[in-house]
Amino acid sequence: MAREKWGTKLGFMLAAMGSAVGLGNIWRFSFVAGNNGGGAFLILYLLFVLIIGVPLLLTEVSIGRKAESDVVGSFKKLAPGTPWYLTGFFGIASAFLILSFYAVVAGWAMFYFWNYLNGSFFAQPAAGYEGAFGQFISHTWHPIAWTAFFMILTIVIVLSGVKKGIELANKIFMPMLALILIVLAFFSLSLDGASEGLKFLFTPDWTALSNPSIYIAALGQAFFSLSLGMGAMLTYGSYLKKENKLPSATLGIGLMDTFFAVISGIVIFPAVFAFGIDPSSGPPLVFITLPSIFEQMPLGGMVGLIFFFALILASLSSSVSILEVPTAYFMRVFGWSRFATSTVMGSIMFVMGIAVSLGFGVWSGVTPIGERNILDSMDYIASNILLPLGGLSMALLVGWYFKKSEALEATDLTSSPIGSTWFTIVKWVAPILIIMIFLNKIGII
Ligand code: PHE
Repeated sequence: MAREKWGTKLGFMLAAMGSAVGLGNIWRFSFVAGNNGGGAFLILYLLFVLIIGVPLLLTEVSIGRKAESDVVGSFKKLAPGTPWYLTGFFGIASAFLILSFYAVVAGWAMFYFWNYLNGSFFAQPAAGYEGAFGQFISHTWHPIAWTAFFMILTIVIVLSGVKKGIELANKIFMPMLALILIVLAFFSLSLDGASEGLKFLFTPDWTALSNPSIYIAALGQAFFSLSLGMGAMLTYGSYLKKENKLPSATLGIGLMDTFFAVISGIVIFPAVFAFGIDPSSGPPLVFITLPSIFEQMPLGGMVGLIFFFALILASLSSSVSILEVPTAYFMRVFGWSRFATSTVMGSIMFVMGIAVSLGFGVWSGVTPIGERNILDSMDYIASNILLPLGGLSMALLVGWYFKKSEALEATDLTSSPIGSTWFTIVKWVAPILIIMIFLNKIGII
């Protein structure tokens, strides 16, 4: 069977941007920035996006386009006879871990959408927004039902195939989400006490840099937000036709993704301080902040409704790219149909998602790593460890296993003035930085 291809380069761009922009920019960015003190984290994150993220994004997409295979198969094809392909399983594992909590959080967003649809979140519920949210996520089966709903939507898009399902979903709602966020940012800035939020986000407290956790948190956020290191972008790259040029496409994806993160920060933090919410509230942060913004805003109920609808679609265009990673792999090795593969993989992730959801209720005492609950533990392993390791492996493949001329050709940089800079980053700078951040975290340097 011939592998599928994107209809147009724009189709690839939309799908890749759709993959990058999602809960990572709004939900994850806000709470990780909040947990890590704001300004200093933002600077590190931006730095890592620029010097590691975007160059590796180009690397990852080029591997997929050259090999025309999934995350494991591509390593096998490009480095035959070596154990390199084993690192592809970091990607498969992180896909399972990430989608199982991603679907839970996207389910929360669906619950919010529903509450704006029926009007019950237009004004504070009796328990307040924070209380209502707490009651909802700790309920045993309510949030699981929403997780299931989201997972079914994801599976349906993936099983209807790359082009039809994924390419179409992004065209209207990405611009819409951007527009709403910009409006929200202006509103948030007009709140009393907004300046304190801006200070938190944009005035770095350099003492935060003495904590090794901030580096790995910023690295993990850069990888998560850019959909990097898992093989999602690699797999999307594998559906690209050879004649599409990569450097400008990947730079565009990086800029777009960063824009969404920064603008989300400008929406969330002024409101966090204006409403007296704790910036280190963790995963619930945006879910308790946003409804308070909508409540204060003229036509806020309507805005909330559209916002959560757009957020759900942005999440879907990311979740399909995650499910596509194991789907592409298992379709090839088992020879199953796209239908069977995506249904089976999605169902396994859903079962893992049940554990994640219970971690906010009856299993809230379960803390697999340190103080972290089930979601935080899975997120930590996947985003802060497996994704950077996957990215490291891709950098080493292209920087060390390929000849320089081969690497430049794979990325359409052969006659480009930035070719040598990119290659130096991929060969030296990115791997050394990633390894240093790991060693620093473990306490070796
Ligand atoms: N980048 C996506 C987001 O920000 C999440 C994602 C991570 C998607 C890894 C694919 C791979 O929401």
